[in-house]
Amino acid sequence: MRRGEKDNPIKSNYLEECDIPLEKFRIEPFTMVVFGGAGDLSQRKLLPTIYHLFVEGELPKDFSLIGFGLTEMSDRKYRDLIKEGVKKYRGEEFNDKKWKEFQKHLYYLSSPFEKDNNYKKLREKIKKIGIPVSKGNIEIIYYMAVPPKATPIIVERLKNHGMCKEIFNTKIIVEKPFGWDRKSAVELNNILLGAFEENQIFRIDHYLAKETVQNILFFRFSNSIFEPIWNSRNIDNVQITAVESIGVGHRGKYYEQAGVVRDMVQNHILQLVALVAMEVPVGLEADYIRDEKAKIFHSIRKMNEGHINNFTVRGQYGSGSIDGKKAIGYREEKDVDENSNTPTFIAAKLFIDNWRWANVPFYIRTGKRLSKKITEICIQFKQPPLRLFGRTCEPLEPNVLILSIQPKERISLKFGVKYPKEYNKIYPVYMDFSYQDEFKMKPHPPYERLLIDSMKGDLTLFIRQDSIKAMWEIVDPITGRWESNPPKDFPNYRAGTWGPEESSLLMQKEGRKWITR
Ligand code: BG6
Repeated sequence: MRRGEKDNPIKSNYLEECDIPLEKFRIEPFTMVVFGGAGDLSQRKLLPTIYHLFVEGELPKDFSLIGFGLTEMSDRKYRDLIKEGVKKYRGEEFNDKKWKEFQKHLYYLSSPFEKDNNYKKLREKIKKIGIPVSKGNIEIIYYMAVPPKATPIIVERLKNHGMCKEIFNTKIIVEKPFGWDRKSAVELNNILLGAFEENQIFRIDHYLAKETVQNILFFRFSNSIFEPIWNSRNIDNVQITAVESIGVGHRGKYYEQAGVVRDMVQNHILQLVALVAMEVPVGLEADYIRDEKAKIFHSIRKMNEGHINNFTVRGQYGSGSIDGKKAIGYREEKDVDENSNTPTFIAAKLFIDNWRWANVPFYIRTGKRLSKKITEICIQFKQPPLRLFGRTCEPLEPNVLILSIQPKERISLKFGVKYPKEYNKIYPVYMDFSYQDEFKMKPHPPYERLLIDSMKGDLTLFIRQDSIKAMWEIVDPITGRWESNPPKDFPNYRAGTWGPEESSLLMQKEGRKWITR
């Protein structure tokens, strides 16, 4: 329904649609150039997802995909390589007939990314085989499935060959990391913005495409009962937990440089904070939402040394066991230094200095090799002003609203009821809504939604450059302080636990505890 229109109380069903005109977001016939088209990400995730979208009938009839990569191979070899990936990662959907149709859309060009001359070849190839181009359509999507240092090189070449704004309607999709700190992020942004307009740049954060993450805004702004109490008068604290049981696996080289703050906090965790904390946007269009998120990033209090020392906890996993299986410590992982000081865990207290959230702590924790995988947002409400029931020394169990992102996709509200028979005893119970039980659907992999939205040109779920900078400004003091002051006790938690003991102590000294459902 469009804003300003009168509500129509009579609906044929209960599904209400948002006010973005659908025709604005149609997928036009396109050519996608995947830099790193034969690499791990392309084989494992990207191409199998595009195949899935093709099978589901989500793609236009005319499209072509050109893999651009280092390995020498023909179009035919490339198709075989991608076929293997699809079979391995989307095996249940593989269908010979569909594959034969799909593979006709795939092409390959082998070249080192630096080689200037080959961008001329790419331009010619786009013109020659890009089916949409031959039909007069000039929608080009560049996908950067490459290591971070390759992006500036490729962008410069595309710019030099006039392939960014001049001859095609282009979009560029960039994966994280967006720099390593504020300075390098600004440099990367400047390179991107020297070649493209901001509205051509799609910076991916896959958390934003998770159904339950998108639901945060729908839940907050479509239910009148929660928003009036969503503030410092009623909320005691907010906790965001995104912990994983996996270790760094084969990504040791990357993780040694990144560590937990750059890997998870600068992007996913801060995006979750923004969705919980932001004000009502003027509308659902991308920039209205992104404006409100940017305001939150600017309002998060910058941490000084004292705060970092007292209210952040860092950790690194040692060996242990998870689900009865032995797990090696971080320092034993492949490509990891045996004396590494890279943190794999963080717990921290943040404040958002704005009218709505003044003095409400936002506690965050994330890390690898913890006892299980859980991503949850817990909103803990204040105690009632007067205790009428249960006048013992025991604190009352507070009301908590839990938005479970994964593995369960669920919303739970915890409240107290009278325990049967016993006099004045309060018992905590949960009221639950589960996506799977209600809609009988499996969670959608976030990449499907991100690809579709970028093809349509909808920027809502992608990160704008001002937010990238502001997010680095929040985490740079932490990484700076930690790196200049090496830990003495690493590894300081066993794989399969809930992290270092200091994480619980952080909450204890605040008179609180970590909540999980
Ligand atoms: C990625 C990080 O961005 O997110 C990984 O680089 C992490 O280290 C992953 O494991 C977590 O994503 P998800 O969707 O599994 O929670």
